[in-house]
Amino acid sequence: MDTIRVRGGARLEGRVAISGAKNAALPIIAACLLAEGECRLEEVPHLADVDTMCGVVRELGLRVLPGRQTLTIINEGITGVAPPYDFVRRMRASFLVLGPLLARAGKVKVALPGGCAIGARPIDLHLKGLAALGAEIEVKNGWVKARARRLRGASIYLDFPSVGATENIMMAAALAEGTTTIENAAGEPEIVDLANFINAMGGRITGAGTRVIRVEGVKQLRGTSHAVIPDRIEAGTFMVAAAATGGDVLVENVIPTHLKAVMAKLREAGAVLEEENGGVRVRAELPPKAVDLKTMPYPGFPTDMQAQFMALLTVAQGSSVITETVFENRFMHVNELKRMGAQIVIEGHCAVVKGVEKLTGACVKATDLRAGAALVIAGLMAEGETEIGCVHHIRRGYEDLVGKLQGLGADITEN
Ligand code: UD1
Repeated sequence: MDTIRVRGGARLEGRVAISGAKNAALPIIAACLLAEGECRLEEVPHLADVDTMCGVVRELGLRVLPGRQTLTIINEGITGVAPPYDFVRRMRASFLVLGPLLARAGKVKVALPGGCAIGARPIDLHLKGLAALGAEIEVKNGWVKARARRLRGASIYLDFPSVGATENIMMAAALAEGTTTIENAAGEPEIVDLANFINAMGGRITGAGTRVIRVEGVKQLRGTSHAVIPDRIEAGTFMVAAAATGGDVLVENVIPTHLKAVMAKLREAGAVLEEENGGVRVRAELPPKAVDLKTMPYPGFPTDMQAQFMALLTVAQGSSVITETVFENRFMHVNELKRMGAQIVIEGHCAVVKGVEKLTGACVKATDLRAGAALVIAGLMAEGETEIGCVHHIRRGYEDLVGKLQGLGADITEN
């Protein structure tokens, strides 16, 4: 069974602890390919995507010893350079082994990540950056093959501040000869966490978190310990869920500066947010106010929070315009929300959401991870029961979402 059932109407109350960030943990596990020796990672969330990335690096020769929220990853030499297709098919982020493998083993063969539900998701920026570092790259028959005897620092400009491309280039440049600058780099907190991890291994990266990153290549990186940052998207999801139920929730283990855009929009929607004891307390009354928002690279409003916010705005007073600028096709949740009574019209990259008085429970389907989270929030708000199918998508990126919501008083079960 692959479903979550929610009976709407309960007001979320209490406190919830946020797990480590999936999108920081995944590149950091890949970066263990760069290290010589043992890395100990803490605050690693227990997620299907993390298991997949562990499977990938195991295939390449690393030993992975999982503990409670920890991973010990031992690198005594890389024995493979071609992660099996099955892993890459399952998770796009497997492509993050490209940079580290090139740097450490001098060659790599990875299946071309296909399109996915939220759009074409090309990899041209990853490849252009690695080619600038001196890699010879061939894309043929669904595979990317790359080799380089020695990577050399270069000046790279990204046409778009792609998170994955910035990470792949940063990892490859860490062991390259000379200095690399990445201009128009992504500045997401997960990039900073990866840079901090590489620097703890002996790397020399400055500027992470800004639009220009400078990487001075070093000869060798060694194992280290690192605690993964809290998941800002999981935190944002709980904040929106609290607001959507007119609740009162203390979201703990949060770095509020990572959530400025989301918190600003929640305040605009009428919620009261206060920083309290290492967390953020969210209180709200229904209905929310309509707000317009536009997704942007960090520090703009995150595309990974767009669907959840849309769920909240379906019952807002007035009409909201949501503009998606990061991904080309990230509105699949719209049809599912409409099945629950939402009034939404899509015009190109914009969705116009006209607030209705209430949503009603229905059978819906999670089309991707964040769309799934949005449907859970809609289910919490709706009258009657909502049955959400394909929730394996949700398990990829939320640690015990159902258990945590039950702890806040939600009437929700998973089977
Ligand atoms: C990461 C996150 C994902 C988040 C996204 C944007 C991980 C594991 N995933 O994905 O949750 O939604 O950032 O914040 O961290 N692009 C190109 N060419 C490229 C690479 C990207 O055109 O070579 C485009 C993409 O099609 C997309 C945009 O850039 O339109 C953003 O993609 P990118 O930042 O690369 O996202 P990911 O790293 O895949």
